[in-house]
Amino acid sequence: MIKTILLNAIEAGGKELQRFFNGEFKITNKEGINNPVTEADHASEKAIIDIIQKSYPDHFILSEETGEIITGSEYKWIIDPIDGTINFANGIPICCVSIGVEKNGEMIMGAVYAPMLNELYFAEKGQGATLNGKKISVGNKATVISSCLVTGFPYTYLDEPNGPLQIFEKLIRKGVPVRRLGSAAIDLCWVASGRFDGFYEHKLAAWDSAAGFLMVQEAGGKVTDFKGNPYSPYQPHILATNGLIHNEMVEVVNGKAF
Ligand code: IPD
Ligand code: CA
Ligand code: CA
Repeated sequence: MIKTILLNAIEAGGKELQRFFNGEFKITNKEGINNPVTEADHASEKAIIDIIQKSYPDHFILSEETGEIITGSEYKWIIDPIDGTINFANGIPICCVSIGVEKNGEMIMGAVYAPMLNELYFAEKGQGATLNGKKISVGNKATVISSCLVTGFPYTYLDEPNGPLQIFEKLIRKGVPVRRLGSAAIDLCWVASGRFDGFYEHKLAAWDSAAGFLMVQEAGGKVTDFKGNPYSPYQPHILATNGLIHNEMVEVVNGKAF
């Protein structure tokens, strides 16, 4: 039942992205200079929440544009109505809807749908992860130097030692390819499907990573904070890898040699 509602909700959100993509829509700005929210973000969020609430009116919902609705249920739906809004607003098809479902504080299910790429990712705790219904697994590169990585940069730059640019520079100077797609949820799904060997980012919000981190774990990868501790989507830093390069990547994100 939860799975059906999750898939219905994500499909409804995805339809809104398709409806507005490359068309005309209103854009407003959140905090920061380039932090847009579009009419499509609101339409996708509404379509998703309507479907969840029709079946589960008492479930906790945390959604990026609306915030928290009905707290205090053992089930919590964590929604990013468009992840990759800047891409979306510029007609770049690397954007998606992301929904994670927690039960008693544990992520039990997640879906990420990138309608313009025709990719639907789904994961259930203990049951593996799929792309368009086919099982996916992480890649098998065993060293950082042989890996293809992806990262993202926060809207408001984080000026700290081992910040986003320092880590990026270090990897690039060594010749490691590091991509920047602009959608953390897709970054995570592409680690899960083996396209990337690792993803790291400073300062994500729970809705960016809720579904994607379960996807990586269920595809056989490892997800932690920058210290290598078990991951929680309620703290900012994420390191998600194929598992094989994880320890080496912990060194990298902490500014140590690799
Ligand atoms: C953003 C994307 C981006 C990441 C940012 C996120 P949004 O989400 O996931 O890849 O670098 O940190 O805020 O604003 O497009 O939903
Ligand atoms: Ca996001
Ligand atoms: Ca968003």
